[in-house]
Amino acid sequence: MDKLVIHKSSLSGSVEVSGSKNAALPIIAATILTDEDCILHNVPNLMDVRTMLKILEGLGKQITFENGTVIIKATKKQGYVAPYRLVRTMRASFCCLGPLLAKKKKAKVSLPGGCVIGVRPVDLHIKGLKILGADINIEKGYCVADGKNMRGSHIYLGGQYGSSVLATDNVMMAAALIDGETIIEYAACEPEVESLGIFLKKMGADITGEGTPLVRIRGVKKLGGCEFDIIPDRIEAGTFLATSIATGSVLEIKGANPFHLTSAIEVAREMGTEINIDNARSIIIKPKLPLKPVNIATLPYPGFPTDLQAQFMVCLCFAKGISLITEKIYPDRFMHVAELNRMGARIQRNGPYAIIEGKEKLFGAEVMASDLRASAALVIAGLSAEDKTEVFRVYHIDRGYEHIEEKLRKLGAKIKREKQ
Ligand code: EPZ
Repeated sequence: MDKLVIHKSSLSGSVEVSGSKNAALPIIAATILTDEDCILHNVPNLMDVRTMLKILEGLGKQITFENGTVIIKATKKQGYVAPYRLVRTMRASFCCLGPLLAKKKKAKVSLPGGCVIGVRPVDLHIKGLKILGADINIEKGYCVADGKNMRGSHIYLGGQYGSSVLATDNVMMAAALIDGETIIEYAACEPEVESLGIFLKKMGADITGEGTPLVRIRGVKKLGGCEFDIIPDRIEAGTFLATSIATGSVLEIKGANPFHLTSAIEVAREMGTEINIDNARSIIIKPKLPLKPVNIATLPYPGFPTDLQAQFMVCLCFAKGISLITEKIYPDRFMHVAELNRMGARIQRNGPYAIIEGKEKLFGAEVMASDLRASAALVIAGLSAEDKTEVFRVYHIDRGYEHIEEKLRKLGAKIKREKQ
């Protein structure tokens, strides 16, 4: 396994944001809905993307992936199983269930299981697809489902934590290719969900309201292939925003859509950071020290994204005062707290709350990555702390960030990957 060796760095320059992992994954799954060719551009070359493409090969697709472009073609080979060995490494694979049911009328998709950030249930996915008439049984850790009798219906898809991104994706994709009209109430509004809706419409789907809490889908008989550009990764952009603030470096983020980052930009401004947005998709960040403490609550979009919680916690370790983070999406998503405290941070965790007492400095240490976004937070901490930091289990970070050490080195970061 690799580790990242990082020293305190002051950064400068501009960084280009890659295509969004969380937009690409459901769109790749949506190509199950057609036997025609689909061409996707600006696809990030990440472990999770490669895993989803492997699953599609197992379902009978022929895939090529070069220089950010994925070409997905149908073959005579038919499949309807998404196996545990792949789904357990990347839970988003579960969003193959909806398109498989609509297109092939049957599916056998492994339940994804939990991960360090939480139990990760799929009850809303199953509830929505059952309301559409799918017959779903759980057998030996798999969702075994039949979609012969599916018809559009009216679904309320809210859960105890609010909307669900991938459950909305699963239902939208299924509803696009079954008879009848489907209305989803309390749909997720994330830009990646909106992007999936736009992709489905390019395939010929009849959808209105994508990206809003009320989505209406009228099923069509057939969906065709299309060519599509994956939207920029707002979480990668937000990660670089946090990097700029924590290291006190002026940075320019290029290729991001600033309107997908409003909540994070608002928090950054509350911390005293000067942010200039040029509509040509460039965000210029000028941190102002001392950083002011803030209170953050993670919420479904357009609220503050849970996927930026760990990264912004590092910034708050340097604020002049006490900050509070309330994790309302994944109350256990605090694996990074213990590691940051080993670097000299003063963070107290109590259930879904973390209280961060700002300090002058953090100090380098050997730390363990646990989930994708916590790994990014530890890299940011290493760039901001005194001396040397070694981040172990960096395979977590490779799941969601394309060439992160190269991008950081181009900004002047002292970071290198070593075989452990
Ligand atoms: C998506 O996961 C993202 N993954 C996650 O990003 C992100 O953290 C999450 O949305 C929240 O924004 C992808 O898009 C591939 P949810 P998803 O269903 O769809 C609960 C990353 O770092 N829930 O919106 O699985 C759930 O437990 C990853 O890129 C149910 O209760 O998340 C959570 O508390 C990590 N029942 C809340 O809803 C369900 O059936 C939101 O989860 C489904 C979810």
